[in-house]
Amino acid sequence: MAHVHRPKVIVGNWKMHKGIAEARSFVTGLALSHFTSLVGLAVPYTCLSAAAEAARGSAIMIGAQNVSDNEDGPFTGEISSKMLKDTGATFAIVGHSERRQHFHEDDTLVNNKIKRLIESGLRPLMCIGETLEQHQDGKSHQVLHAQLINGFRGLTPGQVEHIIVAYEPVWAIGTGKTASPETVEAAHAYCRKVIASAWGKDTAEHIIIQYGGSVKADNAAALLALSDVDGLLVGGASLALESFTKILHAQEHSKS
Ligand code: PGA
Repeated sequence: MAHVHRPKVIVGNWKMHKGIAEARSFVTGLALSHFTSLVGLAVPYTCLSAAAEAARGSAIMIGAQNVSDNEDGPFTGEISSKMLKDTGATFAIVGHSERRQHFHEDDTLVNNKIKRLIESGLRPLMCIGETLEQHQDGKSHQVLHAQLINGFRGLTPGQVEHIIVAYEPVWAIGTGKTASPETVEAAHAYCRKVIASAWGKDTAEHIIIQYGGSVKADNAAALLALSDVDGLLVGGASLALESFTKILHAQEHSKS
């Protein structure tokens, strides 16, 4: 595919960790450090306002880890895209494998959540990836195809182009087993091919596709150097400011 310059986007996913004071001091510290990639933090709902306030005036994007597929109404315990917008959040993760696994979220639900986020002017970050069993059965590409086509159903090429995709093989999340550069590059190139055939070559060339799954300071540069890898989604290693900033600096050592 013709070379299009895509920025590297590195996002930390804190999952169910950190309180308000900790979030505030982390973001304040991060804002003081130098980085050249686009940086985001997906924080717990309870930390969104404080994190967004601490990030004000910096280039750090603050986002949520989930959103309701409903606009408003009697949905006890749910948080809508409008509520997220209200906190100062600018993006939200949808379809993380932990939500697919533990909360039975399917592609239709993910698709509806993406539509809500777009309506509220928030950027969706959609996670996709195969389980270990699917990987061993040689079904990885089939899974990625279904998650992309169903997750983006009904969206225009312009809307798809603005979504961040994170390829996160489920067997690599929190396991210390990063996928090999060959596997990652092949999966990312395949995703771009699927997007090109359904939403056009231009959309496929511009969409950001991150890799996620046991990203650490010592493997980040090699992953970022892959031509179809446009950034990273970092779980465990985003919890300490030191390891997260090391990953951000790895970007400077990778050929981009
Ligand atoms: P990990 O998590 O970096 O701890 O493997 C990644 C993720 O779940 O987004």
